[in-house]
Amino acid sequence: MSEVYRDPSLSASERTIDLLSRMTIEEKVGQMCQLDLSHDPKIWIKERNIGSYLNVKWKDTQVLQKMALETRLGIPLIFGVDAVHGHCFHDGATVFPSQLAMSCSWNPELLEEVARITAREVIHTGFHWTFAPILCIGRDPRWGRISETFGEDPFLIGNLASAMVRGYQGKSLSDPESILACPKHFVAYGETIGGRDSAEAEVSRRKLRSIFLPPFKAVVDTGCDSIMAGYHSIDGTPCSANSWLLKDLLKKEWGFKGFVLTDWANINWLHEMQYIAPTLADAAEIALLAGNDMMMSTPEFYNIIIKMIKEGHIDEKVIDDACSRILNVKFRLGLFEQKGLLTSDSKVIGCLKHKKKALEAALQSLVLLKNDNDLLPLKENIGKIAVLGPNADNSIAQLGDWSFGKVLNWPPQDSDIVDGHKDNTVTILDGIKKRVKDPSSILYVKGCDVLNPEDQDIQKAVQAAMEANVAIVVVGDSYSLNGERKDRASLDLTGAQHKLLDSIKRTETPLIVVLINGKPLTIPWIAENADAILEAWNPGNEGGNAVAAVLFGDFNPSGKLTISFPRHIGQLPVYYNQMPGWHGGKYVDMDAEPLFPFGYGLSYTSFQYSNLRCSTTELQKHEVLTVSIDIKNTGNHEGTEIVQLYVNDKYSSVTTPIKELKGFSSVNLHPGEEKCVNLVLPISSLSLINSEGVECVEPGEFEILVGGSSRDNDLLKKSIFVH
Ligand code: NOJ
Repeated sequence: MSEVYRDPSLSASERTIDLLSRMTIEEKVGQMCQLDLSHDPKIWIKERNIGSYLNVKWKDTQVLQKMALETRLGIPLIFGVDAVHGHCFHDGATVFPSQLAMSCSWNPELLEEVARITAREVIHTGFHWTFAPILCIGRDPRWGRISETFGEDPFLIGNLASAMVRGYQGKSLSDPESILACPKHFVAYGETIGGRDSAEAEVSRRKLRSIFLPPFKAVVDTGCDSIMAGYHSIDGTPCSANSWLLKDLLKKEWGFKGFVLTDWANINWLHEMQYIAPTLADAAEIALLAGNDMMMSTPEFYNIIIKMIKEGHIDEKVIDDACSRILNVKFRLGLFEQKGLLTSDSKVIGCLKHKKKALEAALQSLVLLKNDNDLLPLKENIGKIAVLGPNADNSIAQLGDWSFGKVLNWPPQDSDIVDGHKDNTVTILDGIKKRVKDPSSILYVKGCDVLNPEDQDIQKAVQAAMEANVAIVVVGDSYSLNGERKDRASLDLTGAQHKLLDSIKRTETPLIVVLINGKPLTIPWIAENADAILEAWNPGNEGGNAVAAVLFGDFNPSGKLTISFPRHIGQLPVYYNQMPGWHGGKYVDMDAEPLFPFGYGLSYTSFQYSNLRCSTTELQKHEVLTVSIDIKNTGNHEGTEIVQLYVNDKYSSVTTPIKELKGFSSVNLHPGEEKCVNLVLPISSLSLINSEGVECVEPGEFEILVGGSSRDNDLLKKSIFVH
């Protein structure tokens, strides 16, 4: 083997140094570009050595890669795809529940397995890289991208995201079925004012370090090798132009060795939308010098930067560093050893084993919000059941954002979608029909549309409800009310959904509401009037089977909310980890309490918490505390309880949240059974960022709170003292 860089027995660093030494300026800058297929691959691969394509089709990955391998140095392309909750852009792939849904399982092991399966499906279609997980903190449900988040808590997000990174990347990037993860959007993208996508976030550096950076620090420590910067600005500086963020903090302070990717056309936006650069050339230079290594969808970057380097305006060392980071990852991923080049079609996409995991994920994602008089689980002999509502038989609403690759317009509307998952998706109606002994006992009427108030058939739905012994009404939102550029000013039910519910209520047939929605909605009427409420979010391909299993008691729900439900939009922000000091602590015309709080979720059984104790109450900063609690199943069903540990720093030099999640665990109990649950709390995790910006644990009293939700009434308390 003549060229050193082709020798797989050498380290990635040795191979990178050798390859870089052979490359022209043009080839280096080419590696830093990522485009979609609207840019001619003959030019971009053969003449410009582009580094990456995104969101192409399976067959294209094979053709394009072969083209790349035939170039002078044969540097392989890295193919990226938005495989956010499964490899969902690919027709027939396994669609898992949305990130928000799966976060309600509070189950890192499950998330790791889901990511592992996604990685298998991704690599078997020739892609090597997913733009996931999403670490944005969902604190304003008006924001269009809430369904992509793991909810509102930084500690939980850090845990679940790290699990997904482990799942995608496996034990080693070079494993045949490992892909590269790309946590995004760095950082505080969900915190833009008014829930407005990509607008300005008003966040201080202290707040960044306290709330928004910790989940990213967790995935960097786990070993992620790419990160996507956010579109938005923080305190006047767009993240893609923020050298403190990308260079000083991420690369130097945290020692991140991977590469930074801009978001789509983000360089262009610096010039055209954020107006911090008078020309596109200025924008390209700013982004490069700020620490971005690969540029998504700014083809102009190629000529601009080559010219600047050749004119001596930019030092070649800058592109050497960026290009080395990209090449190093390509070597470690095994791309030079033909990873992702397939010899035959594979049988892994959407296979039975993967579907089973999708069912497990959906079951654990469901959250029971109300169950008056134990209406659920339904009795086997319940008789006629009316299944009503616009989301009962709607695979597009059910699968949610990022599930469809073939969209024609932007932003896509439901009507634009070619539903390549329809045949392998079990809708709620399908699931219920399959579960009952006699499918003719199911009376289905859509009743109304999610969006269009004119399109309704409420009278027929009322007829069905009157004939039935129970009405299951499936309402919520739709694909076109979630996602990028789809922020909402109201979170009320749309179309004629409220009219439908009100009419069914009047029949006096017991009313079960199943919610299929990408985000919390303001549903005080439902909370008051429904007999039972099951939150299903976007539950994926197997959602219908999962919902039916819970409704009929084959599975006892155990999910807990990871995002608070406001009663009214004017209550926002309503997340649980609020700062203290609000005079009055409520609005004069409304409570501060959310409709359903973070951590809340019911079961068909009941759990009793007792005997909270700490291994010691006097600790030093380097010590680890063990918190123990006894939990008893006091009901009649076997069930799983998600136990939550919060901490309140009683007095500190700066204001700190009234409580913060610092630990969680699950316990499964048979009726009457009692177990002790131990939660480990390193005292170092009780740190705060002081007014000087320094992270430290301040001595004093900390309240330890353990229970089944973030609500004060659900928590037992004990104090510890740190010296
Ligand atoms: C823009 C989105 O913000 C980002 O999350 C996504 O990965 C890219 N587009 C690529 O589709």
